Formats: sequence, structure tokens, C-alpha cells
Amino acid sequence: MPISYRLIRPILFRLNPEWAHQLTLNGIRLAHSAGLSILYAHPMVRDPVELLGLRFANRVGLAAGLDKNGEAIDALAAMGFGFVEVGTVTPRPQPGNPKPRMFRIPQAQALINRMGFNNAGLEAFLRHVRRSHRPVPIGLNIGKNASTPVEQALDDYRIGLEGVYTQADYVSINISSPNTRNLRQLQSDAALQGLLSGLAETRERLSQQHGRRVPMLLKIAPDLDDADIDVIADQLLAHGMDGVIATNTTLSREAVSGMAHAQEAGGLSGPPVREASVRVIARLRQRLGRQVPIIGVGGILTGADAVEKLRAGADLVQLYTGLIYRGPELVSECARALALEANQGGQR
Ligand SMILES: Cc1cc2nc3c(=O)[nH]c(=O)nc-3n(C[C@H](O)[C@H](O)[C@H](O)COP(=O)(O)O)c2cc1C
Repeated sequence: MPISYRLIRPILFRLNPEWAHQLTLNGIRLAHSAGLSILYAHPMVRDPVELLGLRFANRVGLAAGLDKNGEAIDALAAMGFGFVEVGTVTPRPQPGNPKPRMFRIPQAQALINRMGFNNAGLEAFLRHVRRSHRPVPIGLNIGKNASTPVEQALDDYRIGLEGVYTQADYVSINISSPNTRNLRQLQSDAALQGLLSGLAETRERLSQQHGRRVPMLLKIAPDLDDADIDVIADQLLAHGMDGVIATNTTLSREAVSGMAHAQEAGGLSGPPVREASVRVIARLRQRLGRQVPIIGVGGILTGADAVEKLRAGADLVQLYTGLIYRGPELVSECARALALEANQGGQR
């Protein structure tokens, strides 16, 4: 029997959020390597899905940012995830923003973070990823260094894509973190056109070279209006992108106004972003048709929230903030709810 997260959470919540995060990640990594993953692991719900040329044991994945350096892939997969996404990795190591840079808003079961892509760089990332036994499909999420001007962003994404290509089951192109200056500008029409055509060209070359076409997905923000979303959808189709991950954290503070830490700079995650990401998913699905896979993420705290994403048009979902508030139990709860929903018809 795994230790109940309900017992552990009050202890973790007494610690500074970033320490608690690091402690938990180290803890499960150690437990897993000592053969003690039973302490936190949950059985994998079987609800196989074929998508992106990959086979997923169930529809629930870990969202990017929890394991930025790809150090705990197998340990995290043991929580019952159908897939695990790690990163964001940047070409060169960087420290990220000054601490404190992660804040809990328990009243709203939310987090604000302005980590700023703190990570050990591509080389260390690949060393870690190569150690994984790959129990589930692995998504590798790439970004640009803070010191690279946004006009040269393509260079960093190219380095990232070339680096991770042979190790990734899919690659996420993250252009939606609010914590790297001007990054979200890459979502606008002209910038996106340049970025995606450059990446499509690089991927073409890499697929010739390695004899395998690795799926590329674009990760987008929730703070977009319908016209912005349509532009992105059209660009995805025009450049043969394989899918989209919607969404990252929000800059809006409407849902948490007046609460402690609400005014901290950074991206807000958890229930306050739920509705916005569902809206983005629904609009994307309308514009993209049924063919392009969507991974829905943002504010999933219950099985019902996961089902809402599927109904809006997502094929798979991812969790981050929900894990902090609900623990690993949430993974199987969502996977079971989605299996039931999908098998009752309606969704794929
Ligand atoms: C502390 C923290 C760090 C994150 N870092 C990244 C990151 O490096 N790359 C990324 O694509 N998304 C990152 N995210 C965004 C999540 O992957 C997810 O898109 C977002 O939090 C919404 O989902 P949630 O409400 O389930 O957390 C981060 C989120 C949090 C809370």
C-alpha cells in the first residue's frame, strides 16, 4: 500500500514550495532506485490508446516542468502515468530567476511560478534521459536560453531538437512560458511562421538522417483570443506539426484576486487556469478538425476535470498542480474517469 498523500501533504506544505518540490522529487527517485516505489506508486490503469504513432497505456501524462532535468522519469512513471514529459531544457545550463520563485495559493489550490527555465542544460539532460528504461512514452520539452534574443530563438530550438531527436518519443516546442522575456511573442503570426518552417526543415533533415519521424507538438498559452488561436491552428496545419499541448500557465489573476501571493509575478496554474485552457482546446479542435491530436492541460484536480478536457476535444491530458494538491492518487482517478468516458463512446 502506498503511503497516503493526505498524511504527507501537511508536512510538505509547511516547507518552502521549491524545497518541498525538490525533496519530493529526490525522495521518489531514491525510493524507486532502492526498489521501494511501492511507497508512492499506484498501479497503471490500462486504457490503451494509439496516437502520434505511439502506444499510450492510458491517457494521463505528467506535464513539463516538474522534472526539468529528466532525472526521475522512471520513478515518476511508476505513479501510473501513461506518458511522462520532462524539461523544459535549454541548450546551455541556466540558473533561472532569483528565489523565491514558486508560491502556493492553497485557497484556490493554485500555484504561481516564475522559475524561468532553471535547468542543467541539454548535455546533462540527455545523460539523464538515456538512463531511463522508458517504461512509457517520453516527451522532451525544449525552450530557449534567457540570454538568447527572441529574434534568434530558432537557433536555440534547433539545437534542442537536434539534441533530443533520437531520445524523444515526441518533442514539445515550448513557446508559452510567461517567465522568459518575450517568449510568448513567438506565438504571433509572423514569428510563428518563421519558427515552425525552420523547425519543420530541421525535422525533415533529422528524419532522413535517422530514419524516424519524431512527432513535434507546440505548447501554447491560455491567454489567447479566438483570432490568435485560429492563427496558431492554421500555422500548425501549414507546417505539418503533429499536435498541440494546451495550455501553459496564465498571466490572469482574476480568479485569485485578493488572495495571499496573488500579486506575485509569474504563471498561475491549477483550477484558476482550467476554464481558459478548456476554451483554448475547444477552439483548437473546432479549427483543426479531428485529425490533429491535442493534449489538454491546466487545472485538472479531479477525474471530472480530466473528462471535461476530453469533451472539449483533447485526446490525452497532463497534470502538474493537481499532483501537488492531490498526490499520485489523482493519476489513476483521472485515467479511470477517461477510460470510462472514452469507452462510453463520444471521444476517441
Ligand atoms: C512550478 C511549475 C513549473 C513549470 N515549468 C514548466 C516548464 O518548464 N515547461 C513547460 O512547458 N511548462 C511548465 N509548467 C506548466 C505546466 O506544464 C502546465 O502546463 C501548467 O502548470 C498548467 O497545468 P496544471 O494546472 O495542471 O499545473 C510549469 C508549471 C509549474 C506549476
